[in-house]
Amino acid sequence: SNSIVEEFYAMEYGPAPEDPKEVERWLDAHKRSFGNYIDGAWQKPASGEYFATNNPATGDKIADVAQADAADVDAAVQAARKALPAWQALTGHQRARYLYALARQVQKHSRRLAVLETIDNGKPIRESRDIDIPLVARHFYHHAGWAQLLESEFPGYTACGVVGQIIPWNFPLLMFAWKVAPALAAGNTVVIKPAEYTPLTALALAELADEIGLPPGVLNVINGDGRTGALLVEHDDIDKIAFTGSTEVGRIIRKATAGSTKKLSLELGGKSPFIVFDDADMDSAVEGLVDGIWFNQGQVCCAGSRLLVQERIAEAFYAKARARMETLRVGSPLDKSVDIGAIVAPVQLERIRALVDQGVADGATCWQPQSTMPQKGLYFPPTLLTGVHPTATVAQEEIFGPVLAAMTFRTPSEAIELANNTTYGLAASIWSENINVALDVASQVKAGVVWVNSTNLFDASCGFGGYRESGYGREGGREGMYEYLEPAWGHERAKQKRPAKAASTKEDDANANVSDTIDRTVKQYIGGKQARPDSGYSFPVYSSDGRVLGEAPLGNRKDIRNAVEAAHKAEKWAKTAAHTRAQILYYIAENLIQRRSEITSKLAEMVGKDQASSEVECSIDRIFTYAAWADKYDGSVHNPPMRNVTLAMNEAIGTIGIICPTEAPLLGFFSLVMPAIAAGNVVIVVPSEKYATLMGDLYQVFDTSDLPGGVVNIVAGRPSELAKTLAEHDDVDAIWCFRDPADATLVKAASVGNLKQVWTNDKYEIDWFDSNQNDGRYFMRHATQIKNIWVPYGE
Ligand code: NAI
Repeated sequence: SNSIVEEFYAMEYGPAPEDPKEVERWLDAHKRSFGNYIDGAWQKPASGEYFATNNPATGDKIADVAQADAADVDAAVQAARKALPAWQALTGHQRARYLYALARQVQKHSRRLAVLETIDNGKPIRESRDIDIPLVARHFYHHAGWAQLLESEFPGYTACGVVGQIIPWNFPLLMFAWKVAPALAAGNTVVIKPAEYTPLTALALAELADEIGLPPGVLNVINGDGRTGALLVEHDDIDKIAFTGSTEVGRIIRKATAGSTKKLSLELGGKSPFIVFDDADMDSAVEGLVDGIWFNQGQVCCAGSRLLVQERIAEAFYAKARARMETLRVGSPLDKSVDIGAIVAPVQLERIRALVDQGVADGATCWQPQSTMPQKGLYFPPTLLTGVHPTATVAQEEIFGPVLAAMTFRTPSEAIELANNTTYGLAASIWSENINVALDVASQVKAGVVWVNSTNLFDASCGFGGYRESGYGREGGREGMYEYLEPAWGHERAKQKRPAKAASTKEDDANANVSDTIDRTVKQYIGGKQARPDSGYSFPVYSSDGRVLGEAPLGNRKDIRNAVEAAHKAEKWAKTAAHTRAQILYYIAENLIQRRSEITSKLAEMVGKDQASSEVECSIDRIFTYAAWADKYDGSVHNPPMRNVTLAMNEAIGTIGIICPTEAPLLGFFSLVMPAIAAGNVVIVVPSEKYATLMGDLYQVFDTSDLPGGVVNIVAGRPSELAKTLAEHDDVDAIWCFRDPADATLVKAASVGNLKQVWTNDKYEIDWFDSNQNDGRYFMRHATQIKNIWVPYGE
């Protein structure tokens, strides 16, 4: 008397293997040996060195691939440089035609690309066929559109030039598309290095680019491991580096590019929370979880690798999750009915094992389903670690495998605290049937991407990228395009080679001249109060004809630390209504107007009458500009081809250290500080030492403008020294340094601790008096970071 139900549960999946014949044929046609694709041709490596790329599911070698050395990297960069002028001379429409052609070509060859991806990477064919490759095509289509609209949508912007790109192995062709499509759409030429475990689909795509007649040198693909990547990063003739990979290598690249003017974007790791409230639709949340952590074997930078579940439902939720895990099939990635494929490489499998062992040693309970595992190949079962302590290694470090670390919370605020309790900030997934709770949590998690009642959704129209140590820059959408563009005026200025400025000697005699006879001694401005410098020292500030105008405080690390602390206490400024921030900026302008003549005459002693009055007048205008922007620099709403809307919110970055320029002491100050605070940031400002006493006159302007204490903090002293301290400080989220190129190098190198965003003037100087450059958008963009919140919408 077998019931239908019993029959149903007794049914076994049969294997449904995908046929790899076409791919085998393609590999054979290439004699299973690949060179580098440089200047439109396949070239053998200069060194003659090759490495093997293996199938992680079987351990078999698939092909030999060239290891590019310095000569190959140089040849590729030269080819890209040579191809640049003609590529840039094309209209946006002409470049769009190439990108459309590539998109179509990807669609025509989608099955072959999917199978090749699965063989090289180990991911299930269902994923490469239904997710990776369709998204690759979508990315080229979408960016063909940006190429078409470039002139009208990005007026005044131009391509960076030659771009070096380095990508990881977890989504080999998708990351290739994410990098190459916007770069080419914007008019750059490219040298890209795929990951050494998974080079094959990039090479297949280079072949497709060749077939559609993409001009030689526009796209160059070089192969190799980290050594090749390092050579590309260090090459002199590269204008921009874009990297996706581990945070560790991100730090190396930040350091390696510190002494250059290369633009940099980093998309790094994550430890993203998957937050389940007790009113969530549990079945949907469990399905989301499967996608969140077991998609691509968990080798996903934005994987929902930390499950935070509300205490009341924790046991019930774990039980449902375990039951679902029992049904996940681990096995040959070419089998269409397999959910979890192979781990990319032996070292990664070892790393996952070691981290799970560590988790258990640290007190977590490890659960894995009973389902059988293949005997051969690099497999790891879906794994649930419960009772994980929030500070345990498995709760803090990226495992990059099918391993979920679970912990519980009681209240929404505890959930937010746990969610933000890592150094990362890539993504978050929030499950609740209560839209108020979900959106309230969305606004408070530190993450570049937030999915409400959904997870791992990607689209070319929506920006993707992290907060904090998950990197900076966005990929996709309008914001992703800006990563491959720069203002045309900046480009022009960069071409007029700037002479390196002599280091200031004023600093050296800063405290040589300590004088107690001068009564005009200015203090630091910290937390809305005037504060004596910790050092007890001050330094003289001179007029343009050499008279001592007054004494400025000589700040040190302690003053900076105090200022950062005060700034942190004022961070609710970001939550102050934009309308209120705008009003306060208008007050600042009004109060500056009140003191206009006094400040003008003081500044005149330093920089001369003409400059002084134009600095003051321009400053007033500038403050009005940012008061106007404060409640207008809105985000946007995207309409991706899913049942979602994506709210792209411009959020404050947090605490910004600002090192002021010397050339326009007052105007430079306001041109930087105003957009920062208009956007909701709090700042620590280091004025130019030559004019530091001028700041004393601004304290009253701020005090009488209702600006909350701590939003603007001013610490004078030796700028290079203070810049370094700010750059090293882990509670500072960004640093803007507008002094000598040497200072730019210094802050970039010192910023690696928490990978803070860095903005410097070493490539091109801003003309503070030019209202076109200072119309606001360019500055507001630097003062904000975009959070993309995906919300279910419509049927
Ligand atoms: P990785 O960061 O070393 O590799 C990424 C890319 O960078 C590869 O193309 C590699 O050849 C290149 N590379 C390595 N060293 C370089 C250097 N010094 N200069 C320039 N390029 C360099 O990542 P790996 O070792 O493959 O994976 C280790 C861990 O990193 C993973 O377990 C995971 O935690 C994390 N990871 C994160 C990714 C993400 O998307 N967020 C992607 C890949 C890895």
